[in-house]
Amino acid sequence: MRRDDLIRYTCRPLLEIRGLNLEFGTPRGRVHALRNVSLDVPAAQVVGIVGESGSGKSTLAYTVMGLLSENADVTAGSILFEGKDLLKIPTQERRSLLGDRLSMIFQDPMTALNPVRTVESQMIDIQHHEQGSRSEKRARAIEMLHRVGIPDPQSRIGAYPHHFSGGMRQRVCIAMALLVKPAILVADEPTTALDATLEVQIIHLLKDLQKEIGCSVLFVSHHLGAVAELCDRVAVMYAGEVVEQGSVRDIFHNPGHPYTRALLECDPGRLKKSTRTLPTIPGEVPNLLGSKQGCLFRSRCGQAFNRCVQDNPVEYRIGVDQVAQCHLLDQGRSASA
Ligand SMILES: Nc1ncnc2c1ncn2[C@@H]1O[C@H](COP(=O)(O)OP(=O)(O)O)[C@@H](O)[C@H]1O
Ligand SMILES: [Mg+2]
Repeated sequence: MRRDDLIRYTCRPLLEIRGLNLEFGTPRGRVHALRNVSLDVPAAQVVGIVGESGSGKSTLAYTVMGLLSENADVTAGSILFEGKDLLKIPTQERRSLLGDRLSMIFQDPMTALNPVRTVESQMIDIQHHEQGSRSEKRARAIEMLHRVGIPDPQSRIGAYPHHFSGGMRQRVCIAMALLVKPAILVADEPTTALDATLEVQIIHLLKDLQKEIGCSVLFVSHHLGAVAELCDRVAVMYAGEVVEQGSVRDIFHNPGHPYTRALLECDPGRLKKSTRTLPTIPGEVPNLLGSKQGCLFRSRCGQAFNRCVQDNPVEYRIGVDQVAQCHLLDQGRSASA
């Protein structure tokens, strides 16, 4: 391999999502849940996905994991992981990546845990790709439960999932997801079902473990505070599109898209004055049925102009490492447009 190629290869992101389009077939028509989504997850970095409910965050996470429902149809795009397109590899190969190179934490821990089996047997089973005897795997599981803050893991490991509180169950899921030392951890709203104090603990725990293991994380959340705390990079999704992405610092301090600005203004953690009613972005997320023309945010955008109705916005570079899809960023646009 030539030196240039070697540098390019070693600097390549771990996960490269390119031009991903996904539709759900429904009795009302085809729901365009992902539209031309491109996103990189660099090695050993945490990438946050934010956006209102219904913007396609979970669909993106599940597509990466290959856990889509039957009515989902990927119509274009690729998901390159360690040089292979996850959308093209045989089902068997894809399955063997799950719980090995790719792990997931769900919003509801019971989605991942089997209610009729002990935590011990589930934590041993998840290590089926690993070397070692059953007792070695049990010892590793106990060590991991200890790492995620389960008190007295030696005896607790024999309990069933319903013997744990919600917060403890989510810790068990994190322990299971990280036990296999994945290359990528996909976490879909892992703290949404927890109260605020527990959320902070879990975020810190995830950050510590991510650094220790050196894995990448795709972290889906509508909680901007958690994203700011945990992530290196952020992608903002709206109506199935990534409308802006960049480093966490750029997105939070210098948002380029009116939707990102609106999201930040409505974040309860950033409100300067105390208020009884939390602000929301006026209007509703658009219907995702059918094809699109123009900018999907225009009916809710205070700065929309003619071009936003007619033309689909393309991606504009704002800084070295920040891009956004908005006609306002077109330096060459005419004043009358
Ligand atoms: N299995 C499905 N069948 C039909 N529509 C779906 C399905 N799953 C998700 N959707 C639709 O896709 C869009 C994106 O949903 P989702 O990815 O769950 O958003 P988010 O996680 O950002 O809240 C929504 O309009 C949702 O109703
Ligand atoms: Mg979701």
